[in-house]
Amino acid sequence: MRDVAAAAASTDPRVLPRNDPRQYDDLAGEWWRPDGAFAMLHWLAEARAALVPPATRPGAVLVDLGCGAGLLAPHLTGKGYHHIGVDLTRSALVQAAEHGVRVVQGDATAVPLPSGCADVVSAGELLEHVPAWPRAVAEACRLLRPGGLLVLDTLNDTALARLVAVRIAERLPTVPRGIHDPRLFVDAQALVAECAQHGVDLRLRGIRPQVGGLLAWLLRRARATGAAPAGRPPRIVPTRSTAVLYQGRGVRKG
Ligand SMILES: C[S@@+](CC[C@H](N)C(=O)[O-])C[C@H]1O[C@@H](n2cnc3c(N)ncnc32)[C@H](O)[C@@H]1O
Repeated sequence: MRDVAAAAASTDPRVLPRNDPRQYDDLAGEWWRPDGAFAMLHWLAEARAALVPPATRPGAVLVDLGCGAGLLAPHLTGKGYHHIGVDLTRSALVQAAEHGVRVVQGDATAVPLPSGCADVVSAGELLEHVPAWPRAVAEACRLLRPGGLLVLDTLNDTALARLVAVRIAERLPTVPRGIHDPRLFVDAQALVAECAQHGVDLRLRGIRPQVGGLLAWLLRRARATGAAPAGRPPRIVPTRSTAVLYQGRGVRKG
């Protein structure tokens, strides 16, 4: 395995190409560290889970596309879903399984699950990593039963998103360097149109970390020596603009 710290800190594109899935193997030890390289994914998972209502029937299924190490799992506790996670990365799936997720190794563009099997499909911080993201959207919609709910969050294909999410955020300890390829960012209106083609009326809203909480967290983290910084992590809050980070929520027509 490559040196995780070097991989996380290096700006040298020779370490691994941007968006190379092997980065998730190198960073496998970071997933569940609340102050680690994937810290922001924890905050986003909480915000995404808040969009998911309690299950309305016994045996309800939530399919978590690009589930990573299952960070959504603790936020679904008590909502009554069987949580099925699909991801390419085995090292992440092993950890997801340890957190109660039923895991399936597979590609979000060709999911090995039957049509209409899901009451909820979640695609958190996935689409901006998938070169053929419309194919992943088609799969997400295919998996939903009529009346099922799609929830997602991703990065917009804008100059502002490239500035904030790559140039700035990848220099902070909240996002691993090189994890994004900005050429894959997802145009919000194209995403809405793609979902509509597959029977899902997707509604968007911009989101961002609450600024005071983020600054306090960064300060605590800079001062921390080894242990996780104390205090509440930053909240993800709605914001008027969808130009950087946005959530989507939509129901599949019956
Ligand atoms: C930024 S992480 C997000 C993980 C998780 N959704 C979360 O929010 O904690 C992106 C995940 O998508 C997975 N991934 C990337 N491309 C994929 C694809 N085509 N099919 C399935 N998983 C994919 C990666 O392995 C990684 O676990």
